[in-house]
Amino acid sequence: MSRLANKVALVIGGVGGIGGAVSQRFANEGARVYATSRKGGETTAGAESSGGIRVIQADASDKADLQRVLEHIRSEQGRIDVLVINAGLSEYAPLRDISEDHFDRTFGLNVRSLVFAAQGVTDMMQAGGSIVLIGSIAGDIGTKGYGVYGATKAAVRSFARTWANELASTGIRVNVVSPGPTDTAMMASASQEVRDVLSSMIPLGRMGRPEEVAAAALFLASDESSFTTGAELAVDGGMAQV
Ligand SMILES: NC(=O)c1ccc[n+]([C@@H]2O[C@H](COP(=O)([O-])OP(=O)(O)OC[C@H]3O[C@@H](n4cnc5c(N)ncnc54)[C@H](OP(=O)(O)O)[C@@H]3O)[C@@H](O)[C@H]2O)c1
Repeated sequence: MSRLANKVALVIGGVGGIGGAVSQRFANEGARVYATSRKGGETTAGAESSGGIRVIQADASDKADLQRVLEHIRSEQGRIDVLVINAGLSEYAPLRDISEDHFDRTFGLNVRSLVFAAQGVTDMMQAGGSIVLIGSIAGDIGTKGYGVYGATKAAVRSFARTWANELASTGIRVNVVSPGPTDTAMMASASQEVRDVLSSMIPLGRMGRPEEVAAAALFLASDESSFTTGAELAVDGGMAQV
């Protein structure tokens, strides 16, 4: 399949977990994929080829790093057709335990960095461009202990609506993929008991796989969703839908 043939894609937080599955799926569909990660090569300037994916070492929460990534892609490709902003963090903190550090760290990556990544990329996008934000059903439901995280993801949903409206006249679409519990490093600290409880809350009876989230991101990234903007696509086994 080549649903992203001739497209240049940037996946911020594109190594491992959901972002890694997105990068891999996009590369399999013919895209030239750039994936950022804090891990990677020794220098911060270079890009190393990893299959169809070029990994650039960069901290998604660092605006200067992001600028360097964009200049790198500009010099190699001249444009970006698809942007996926996946980097995000989730920490447990019920209201009584919310610290300024926790608040700033979570909003800093999940919201602030996302805003400036989208802002930085739009002038490299042409009509037909697609921005896919990775949200969460935590933005819709009140998961105990994850108030700050949930608020960041509600903000992501809100930005998608506004940017879809603002960018519509340029032909750039903006949408959100909102996973439910998905089997990645983010869930690794959860005990089997917690995983079983979570699974029992999901109508389809199990957690999601990163590849299933990547399939939804592919739809929104590709021209097959050419009349879809400002939307949220939940990939949650029905958890927040029924
Ligand atoms: N797993 C779930 O159940 C679930 C459910 C709903 C939504 N999501 C969302 O899906 C996205 C990916 O999550 P995942 O489950 O794949 O988690 P993950 O495996 O932990 O990956 C998290 C990603 O965020 C980046 N990241 C984490 N902390 C960072 C920090 N302090 N500074 C800069 N970058 C940081 C990582 O980049 P590096 O490569 O640099 O480490 C990685 O790309 C997130 O936005 C998350 O909120 C996940």
